[in-house]
Amino acid sequence: MDPALPPRLKEAAEALLEGVSRKDLAAHSTAISKEYRAGGGSARVVRSEADTLAYLVARLPATYAVNAAVLAEVRAAVPDFTPAHLLDVGAGPGTAAWAARETWPALAQATLTDSNASFLDLARKLVPNAEFLPRNLITEALPAADLVIASFVIAEIAEPSSAVSKLYAATTDVLVLIEPGTPQGFARIHAARAQLIAQGANVLAPCTHANACPMTGTDWCHFTQRLPRSRDHMQAKGASVPYEDERYSYLAVSKARRSANEARARILAPPRESKPGIELKLCTPAGLENRSIAKRDKQAFVAVRRAEWSDLV
Ligand SMILES: C[S@@+](CC[C@H](N)C(=O)[O-])C[C@H]1O[C@@H](n2cnc3c(N)ncnc32)[C@H](O)[C@@H]1O
Repeated sequence: MDPALPPRLKEAAEALLEGVSRKDLAAHSTAISKEYRAGGGSARVVRSEADTLAYLVARLPATYAVNAAVLAEVRAAVPDFTPAHLLDVGAGPGTAAWAARETWPALAQATLTDSNASFLDLARKLVPNAEFLPRNLITEALPAADLVIASFVIAEIAEPSSAVSKLYAATTDVLVLIEPGTPQGFARIHAARAQLIAQGANVLAPCTHANACPMTGTDWCHFTQRLPRSRDHMQAKGASVPYEDERYSYLAVSKARRSANEARARILAPPRESKPGIELKLCTPAGLENRSIAKRDKQAFVAVRRAEWSDLV
């Protein structure tokens, strides 16, 4: 899927940014990026319209690109799944709602919830034909939906396991959790995976099995998504290259269906080319494996020659 913002979302975001001082935008962007990098939550840094506009410039392109990549993996794992109702929890500007509609254009109903009134106001301006509910994920009830997404939200919750239970209880079919691709983000995904498997969930992605996660020690399972940077995005971040790479960890599970990719292997790092062939770091149902595929093993080599980090083989 295209990692760039869909043209209509880009236009709507640009319209909101018209007349806004680029200097102020850059200052707000720096402040919120710094807070997120330090592991802080939106409640501390996103308090005004100016803050949400800075989120649009500094974070939305990356969180959208990651959602698009993750939902493409979900679609590949369960090609028969055509969600009717999306619940985007901790929706922010409506990132997951946009990515879900791009992935499944027939998606009829979208409910966006957030505890932050400034974010919900922004989402109302950016996401057409949706329902917007001010809801605290921890203390208030969530409506049920066949597709539930919490994108970059669990990081902000003091008690992740009760949030995960609540999200799963609201899910009638597929639940998607996305976190930053840091050791801490992966630790939350790792814990949610064990918890959800214990509750009977079928794992759809990125894992191709429901065995104990083989990732141990200082290693962590994450992926990266490259996305284009607009001029505003570059300016706000003081960046010199027209793209950025966003790292993420994620988990998709289902109550109702199993993955079409069970028993395959997922590439967990950039493939390394060497003179004799290619080296792949794989997660397989039997555990982690470093596999060398020699050029002279023509059939196997051709099959993986163009494979990339996060692909299935
Ligand atoms: C980093 S933003 C992510 C926004 C959006 N999902 C995205 O991927 O771009 C985190 C969002 O979670 C929301 N949030 C944090 N704690 C929450 C809670 N207890 N209940 C509901 N929303 C919460 C924040 O208000 C914010 O909108």
